[in-house]
Amino acid sequence: MNILVTGGAGYIGSHTCLELLRRGHDITVVDSLVNAQREAVKRVQQLAGREFPFYQADVRDEEALETVFAVGRFDCVIHFAGLKAVGESVGIPLRYYDNNLNSTITLCRVMQRHGVKRLIFSSSATVYKPGVPMPADESSELGCTNPYGWTKFMCEQILRDLVVADPDWSVVLLRYFNPIGADPSGRIGEDPTGIPNNLLPFVAQTALGRHKELHVFGNDYQTHDGTGVRDYIHVSDLADGHVAAIDYAMNHTGCEAINLGTGIGYSVLDIVHAFERVNGVKVPYVISPRRPGDVDAVFASPDKARRLLGWEARRSLDDMCRDSWHWQSMNPQGYGR
Ligand code: NAD
Ligand code: UFG
Repeated sequence: MNILVTGGAGYIGSHTCLELLRRGHDITVVDSLVNAQREAVKRVQQLAGREFPFYQADVRDEEALETVFAVGRFDCVIHFAGLKAVGESVGIPLRYYDNNLNSTITLCRVMQRHGVKRLIFSSSATVYKPGVPMPADESSELGCTNPYGWTKFMCEQILRDLVVADPDWSVVLLRYFNPIGADPSGRIGEDPTGIPNNLLPFVAQTALGRHKELHVFGNDYQTHDGTGVRDYIHVSDLADGHVAAIDYAMNHTGCEAINLGTGIGYSVLDIVHAFERVNGVKVPYVISPRRPGDVDAVFASPDKARRLLGWEARRSLDDMCRDSWHWQSMNPQGYGR
């Protein structure tokens, strides 16, 4: 199949591109590189042993997208392109709404014009209303607490409306839980700018000695050891989930929201201890105050993904910790800037 991947130079996009190439699909990538390096694209090409077209363009740029669609005849589009920093979205909401909504609307308009009506959309577990009973399933109540979350919520609604208006469309809204890990080659991985907000990059950089210690945000949550529990999923399992979603979209019309998680919750301290054990490194930490907005536990019901996509996560927490460390220790400066 011929797949257009927006945001394909980013963390999840690069791993998904690699998996698509390994399975023999053709791909084209569009990425503005607002939060990625061209080096990631090169490394995917090296790992797969295949070239593919790469356009450095903003998905909101309709003319640029027209050029891409004029050249390729796509069976399906995966739309990863988006800004994703929760804290930043609170400070600069207009940039988030503009980027994430207008990229999705522009992309769909161009797809429609070219008769391409299969779309896999990157949504997030953040669309679930804080405090809903866990595990969250796709019918759990929705509601967000920050502009980033609302952009995902609104894009989901836009896409549902699009399918109502034109039932030929097939849209899969994939709600990711907490992606971590990297391709076992250690050649591609997550490369956050500045000091990481997310747990795993911070843990890995602390093990490297880049930070004195990890701040564990709160140890008085209602969880087995008091620290926050999340559903961490290996990024290569997520990549497999996208391949399964494409197969589904090829054979069905309509709009489905589907969780991509493992269904297992690990605490911050579970992660720290597994990371130390698997990699033989030390991760010094201190207990710090809770981070505003955090909740006790978030984990998925993975049943719908199993039922509709025939997909489930296969990689273990040890795999995730080992592969995160392999990437970070082989690339202490990420892709290099
Ligand atoms: P990422 O920042 O590594 O990748 C996103 C890519 O999109 C980047 O390469 C960036 O340069 C590109 N991009 C952004 N806006 C663009 C635009 N207007 N035009 C063209 N390119 C643009 O992030 P990621 O972790 O790979 O996430 C991919 C998608 O999954 C995002 O939509 C994100 O919101 C969503 N998501 C991520 C997580 C997570 O924890 N990583 C969780 C849930 C959902
Ligand atoms: N944590 C720490 N110290 C740190 C960083 C994180 O203790 O330095 C804790 C958090 O308090 C939380 C857990 O580690 O309990 C995971 O935190 P992350 O920031 O890695 O992930 P979140 O679950 O808070 O958020 C992630 C994505 C969001 C997305 C959300 C969806 O970053 O974009 O999952 O559930 F919206």
